[in-house]
Amino acid sequence: MANVIVIGAQWGDEGKGKITDLLSRSADVVVRYQGGVNAGHTIVVKGQTFKLHLIPSGILYPDTECIIGSGTVIDPRVLIAELDQIEELGISTSNLLIAETAHVTMPYHRLIDQASEERRGNHKIGTTGRGIGPTYADKSERTGIRMLDLMDSQGLRDQLEWTINYKNVILEKLYNLPPLEPQKVIDEYLGYAERLRPYVVDASLKIYDAIQRRRNILFEGAQGTLLDLDHGTYPYVTSSNPVAGGACVGTGVGPTMIDRVIGVAKAYTTRVGEGPFPTELDGELGELLCSRGAEFGTTTGRKRRCGWFDAVIGRYAVRINGLDCLAITKLDVLDELEEIKVCVAYEIDGERCEHFPTSARKFTQCRPIYKTLPGWQQSTSNCRSLDDLPRQALDYLKFLAELMEVPIAIVSLGASRDQTIIVEDPIHGPKRALLHADGSQASLLSA
Ligand code: IMP
Repeated sequence: MANVIVIGAQWGDEGKGKITDLLSRSADVVVRYQGGVNAGHTIVVKGQTFKLHLIPSGILYPDTECIIGSGTVIDPRVLIAELDQIEELGISTSNLLIAETAHVTMPYHRLIDQASEERRGNHKIGTTGRGIGPTYADKSERTGIRMLDLMDSQGLRDQLEWTINYKNVILEKLYNLPPLEPQKVIDEYLGYAERLRPYVVDASLKIYDAIQRRRNILFEGAQGTLLDLDHGTYPYVTSSNPVAGGACVGTGVGPTMIDRVIGVAKAYTTRVGEGPFPTELDGELGELLCSRGAEFGTTTGRKRRCGWFDAVIGRYAVRINGLDCLAITKLDVLDELEEIKVCVAYEIDGERCEHFPTSARKFTQCRPIYKTLPGWQQSTSNCRSLDDLPRQALDYLKFLAELMEVPIAIVSLGASRDQTIIVEDPIHGPKRALLHADGSQASLLSA
């Protein structure tokens, strides 16, 4: 039995979808704990491609229970479209549960998100425009609508009438937008409520019950460590806590019940939206990584910014999340390169800095200090064990593991499930603390 958290160790889009899909096979319950329809992964089922933003991909396994936890924000319109897509494929959605305490994204959240981004001009964050920040802001301001409010028709009418009139002042006076019609929004959301009612439960209780029955639970993080509201590159972050600690808060599970934390990182780095990115590559190399890695966002289609692997933020992710091991994805994207750089430290004002600076201003001033490694210039996409890898590729992985002082348990070399090297069992293999006590650097990559 193991309860495992999977998080993104960079700025999101690390390929968590594939890794959680791999691990979902041995999970009884998959729980999403934060974020909303800003996240997204592409799934191919029965030759048909579709995108999921909220529902964990574990829904495709008939015996896996999927839970959308309390720390998420739910856009019911998008969620219902996802349910429709899945059901059209003949796949049951009866194993989905939604936390009654999750907050609901309303039309005014989307409008305010988009209008405020426009108003920010040069100071924009580059949000996905899906209303995520304003939904979480209302949660903190205690004016939010929760799933359980949605289920109470009369209460919802009263609450929404007041809230929409209040939001209309902001829409009209601050952003020069037309007001929303309260009755129209209320009717629309009452319709959503009826469709979603069968799924809405006390999710924390369900998860606790599953833990007591010694079920295997996978807590699936969306976005990544550097987009965390508290620990990321603020203000260029999302409005929730993608870090491992967010899994406890976002599901109502105590930290003593977590057995493992697995971090997912690309073999290079990408970022969508605004904000500092020390190892960003302009020109041909950046384009090459973007096209070989198909680096376009699932939710917005935006082109991702690409750069070299940054071990400073990698080490930071190991620390902030207490990572037991790493999954390195998209190693094959580097196949053609003659040489590969890894940022080992930063230089700020002429001084070497080994740690991620918490100030965004300082982070903007960071110049990467690189170590250059030879490339392998041959395809790795058919490698299925460490022994199959070219020596330089193995050296590259060992170098990353040593820099970040955490073992690499999984290496991914392509989108399909079999393009994966399992170095050691990420769930039942030795925990990080034990590997440290051993003191052997070599053991950081191989079991
Ligand atoms: P928001 O979450 O839409 O408010 O956007 C805030 C920042 O997080 C922006 O830089 C987005 O590009 C980024 N972001 C949000 N969701 C994702 C994701 O799933 N992958 C990568 N970046 C994301």
